[in-house]
Amino acid sequence: MQKNNKLQYKSAFTFLTELIKPHKKWYLLASLASIVLAVSELIHAKLSQLLIDSSILGKINLIVISIFSFSIILILHAFFEYIKMLCSAKLSTSAGKDLKQKICHILLYAKYKDMANVQTGDILKTVNVDTENVCSFLEGSLIDLFSQLIMAFSALIYLLYINPRLAVVTFIYTPIGMFFTLTLNKKMKSLYIIEENKSGKALSFIEQLISQIPVIKSFVMEKQLRIRLYNMYRDIGNVQKDISVWNALMQPACSSTSYIPRIVYLIYAGKLVIENNMSIGTLIAVFELLNFIIGPTVYFPFLLNSFNKSIASINRIEKIYSMNLEEVKSCENSKLCVNSIIEKHKNLDNNVKNNILLDKSKYNQNIDIIKSGINKIELLNVNFSYDDNAKIIKSLSFSHEGNGIIALCGKSGSGKTTLIDLLSGLYNQNSGEIKLSSPCSVVTQDAYIFMDTLFKNIHMAKPSAASDEVISSIQLAGLDVLVEKLEFGHNSMIGDGVRALSGGEKQRVSLARAILSDAPIWLLDEPTSSLDIETEKIIIDVIKKKSCNHLIIIAAHRQSLIDIADRRIELV
Ligand SMILES: Nc1ncnc2c1ncn2[C@@H]1O[C@H](COP(=O)(O)OP(=O)(O)OP(=O)(O)O)[C@@H](O)[C@H]1O
Ligand SMILES: [Mg+2]
Repeated sequence: MQKNNKLQYKSAFTFLTELIKPHKKWYLLASLASIVLAVSELIHAKLSQLLIDSSILGKINLIVISIFSFSIILILHAFFEYIKMLCSAKLSTSAGKDLKQKICHILLYAKYKDMANVQTGDILKTVNVDTENVCSFLEGSLIDLFSQLIMAFSALIYLLYINPRLAVVTFIYTPIGMFFTLTLNKKMKSLYIIEENKSGKALSFIEQLISQIPVIKSFVMEKQLRIRLYNMYRDIGNVQKDISVWNALMQPACSSTSYIPRIVYLIYAGKLVIENNMSIGTLIAVFELLNFIIGPTVYFPFLLNSFNKSIASINRIEKIYSMNLEEVKSCENSKLCVNSIIEKHKNLDNNVKNNILLDKSKYNQNIDIIKSGINKIELLNVNFSYDDNAKIIKSLSFSHEGNGIIALCGKSGSGKTTLIDLLSGLYNQNSGEIKLSSPCSVVTQDAYIFMDTLFKNIHMAKPSAASDEVISSIQLAGLDVLVEKLEFGHNSMIGDGVRALSGGEKQRVSLARAILSDAPIWLLDEPTSSLDIETEKIIIDVIKKKSCNHLIIIAAHRQSLIDIADRRIELV
């Protein structure tokens, strides 16, 4: 739901405050430098007045003093400008690093259910563009706002001190000009949000196009997809056109806020000079100061613009922040299972909860579990649906104690992968109980290969494993043939865009990961669906051997896999 304006500003403000908090020293230093710069501008104006008046009166000593003071102020000004810029850059880069790190952390630890519904393009846009928007707002606009306000305030006090009436007359138009610019700005804010959302969607679409090129080519879908993409960019272009029209309208509104006070001032102050109520030096010095008072009134709408752009970005970052995170893993390789146990039993009675704690503590010494060989799985009245409509898993109950192979059978779409995902903890059941006694290794239906070496692709399943273990997993999973084909053996780079693997090879990489991580319970989702009969035989032999000391649950269509199972569970 779209937050209202006030809420948006409030939550963006809280967001920025939290972001700055750990780096407040840079913000404070930059602000301090801004204050010094404001004071130096006031002294500068006072010195201009002194220099002009003493030149008119021919007072040499005063001329020398003011020129000397000018030089000192100039050096101080340059130094503090440098400090301000440096601290603003430090603030922006440190806060930006925090922001990106936090987003990456959330993306890695977010619950699968939350991640499954986000679009890659949106995420890429948030990590790259939105974080940059926020950082440039921090670095430029936020510090500038502070320094401009300080300068404006000091200059206004000075002007009031010289002649309060002059100050009031000069700025009589300002609220009207501000009203125009702020009204235009409001319109631009909503356009910015529309533009950001549309370009996020276009990015997602392009990402899909790139990953689906074989499908596009084989079904000759280029033309229709090109039209969709062109239309998307035509829509974005239209919004951008609207933004530039409103932006163009801002210019005259800003100019009037800038020039009218200057003209009013010159007329009124000129009259005071003619009447001998003001010196020429004061007239020029205050005219210089006017820039500082007028500056923020012109700058403010632009700042608001930049803030509005940041609000659109902050909204998207907050969407990622709102994702639910998984429980932190209690030991390597056991994350999925520990999570599933903790999550799945939130609503159970104390008795069962104690069991869960017992299970959890066992994971930290999980060798005991493997040695004792008591693998256990228990499902009681489990129900699950992805959305509120169709139930995929309906009142499913079964239990199994000990090692062996359980085959999950059923028609395509009957819920085999869904059940594997529930057991592995990717999703939580809507009701019922699921209990696993130990960690799981999972081989998913769609194996994913990281752009890295074959060795590292498998090693990442158990970073503590020695090289021998990894190589033996590669052999057991029947990947020797692939290793022989690759230029640098298992140290060759693989992955889409580097060296693509066949579907069966990907499956075996996934299986090698499971063999290496070697959790007591294995969840295999159609692990041989892309293999030829000969390679399948090798894998089936491995599974059979492993089933002596593992509990292996296989989602299977193939008769060859169903045949080796000790038990069959039919999903309907
Ligand atoms: N993320 C999702 N959101 C909504 N519905 C989904 C989602 N994933 C799967 N489904 C639906 O849930 C049902 C069960 O899907 P599932 O992948 O578990 O079937 P399966 O038995 O593994 O099929 P197959 O044998 O084809 O792999 C299907 O109707 C599918 O369309
Ligand atoms: Mg499936």
